[in-house]
Amino acid sequence: MKKLIQNGTIVTATDQYAADILIEGEIISAIGLNLQAEGAELVDATCCYVFPGGIDPHTHLEMPFGGTVTKDDFASGTKAAAFGGTTTVVDFCLTNKEEPLQAAIDRWHAKSEHKAVIDYSFHLMIGEMNEQVLKQLPAVINDEGITSFKVFMAYKNVFQVDDETLFRTLIAAKELGGLVMVHAENGDVIEYLTNQALANGQTEPIYHAKTRPPEIEGEATGRAAQLTGLSDSQLYVVHVSCAQAVEKIMEARKKGIQVYGETCPQYLVLDETYLEKPDFEGAKYVWSPPLREKFHQDVLWNALKTGQLQTVGSDQCSFDFKGQKDLGKGDFTKIPNGGPIIEDRVSLLFSEGVKKGKISLQQFVDLTSTRAAKLFGLFPKKGTIAVGTDADLVIFDPHAERVISATTHYMAVDYNPFEGMKVTGEPISVLSRGEFVIRDKTFVGKEGKGRYLKRQKFGTPEESVMNKTITV
Ligand code: URP
Ligand code: ZN
Ligand code: ZN
Repeated sequence: MKKLIQNGTIVTATDQYAADILIEGEIISAIGLNLQAEGAELVDATCCYVFPGGIDPHTHLEMPFGGTVTKDDFASGTKAAAFGGTTTVVDFCLTNKEEPLQAAIDRWHAKSEHKAVIDYSFHLMIGEMNEQVLKQLPAVINDEGITSFKVFMAYKNVFQVDDETLFRTLIAAKELGGLVMVHAENGDVIEYLTNQALANGQTEPIYHAKTRPPEIEGEATGRAAQLTGLSDSQLYVVHVSCAQAVEKIMEARKKGIQVYGETCPQYLVLDETYLEKPDFEGAKYVWSPPLREKFHQDVLWNALKTGQLQTVGSDQCSFDFKGQKDLGKGDFTKIPNGGPIIEDRVSLLFSEGVKKGKISLQQFVDLTSTRAAKLFGLFPKKGTIAVGTDADLVIFDPHAERVISATTHYMAVDYNPFEGMKVTGEPISVLSRGEFVIRDKTFVGKEGKGRYLKRQKFGTPEESVMNKTITV
């Protein structure tokens, strides 16, 4: 079945032009002015932009964490993502020490394969590094197409690893063609500050932020960057929240060290004062790293604009306020860390970034889609609009206005951290590999239709990906 998208304005990370798009099966087969295609279903995109489907490089769907499990699974999470203009998610697969890596990956396949409504892939957590783990990595990369590895420098006694593990992971990634991702906060110092706070009776949500100051994120970011330089490897720093971390990334990049950084909408739009909301509502805003003082937002926007940070992920990690976040009443350390962002990531960046003149339209596409595709081995199959690529497309009305609310969102949680916020710009229809998932703001997709994506190694030349993946 052919589809012809007419009268829209195509926007990629480099271009913006009026043209029609012909889709044959899963693939874009032609782009041009006034295209004709006999028998094609006509889709009108008048007054709309047509973007490449968003790629969310940072999600935690149905993940056990903080004594509970994230509320959005691969069904509700990917459906909400699609409503928000995202057509690919890369989720974090957790591992257990001494368990075969394949067992963890199989567990993640079992959670996702019958549920995802859009395409998806996995990053793999590395919780230990030894000969056993090293032996398994080539299969993880070559058979599963998992080419990014996540290391936690925080969450002591849960996920945190020591520097030797981080360093050995960087070396292995260099040799095998992987990208190391870090949660960069100094977990040991956090542990000390947390114990001090609790001993002083400081148990409210705001102390989550006070015990994780930005210096701790800056220090860990700098340490990870130095180890990346020493191993001549490559690093992606997830959820960068503050000036101190941006500074370390910039410093490293200036020296030619391959360090990339991601921030998230919550750090660009919300600030530390939200943790002080009364009636324990501050718990809704407990993330790690925490929300910061407002001035950090300008630093983050500037880093996106100047290319010092390359992506905007959601860090989707949703918990209900009632029944999950309230596990931490009377003790902030028991509040599950994370929030529901997957649905509003693209809209927030468009509304707060493009509409307010902080980033260009091309940068917006790069930050929400193209760069993630390139860094994580999906480009150009995903992340752009070109002949031969997957027809993952978002028909986006840049003038539509809506108010974000838990009463209307599609995520499975009972609150939205951006409740009441007015945003401009909205996805109207979303296609995944040529099929509508969202049509005229209505879900028309199907659970299990999302396909698992095996990804290319880090640094694979784009032409060779093209040759392998494009068959029109
Ligand atoms: O608070 C957060 N960020 N929760 C998700 C887990 C993580 O650290 O990314
Ligand atoms: Zn993290
Ligand atoms: Zn995360």
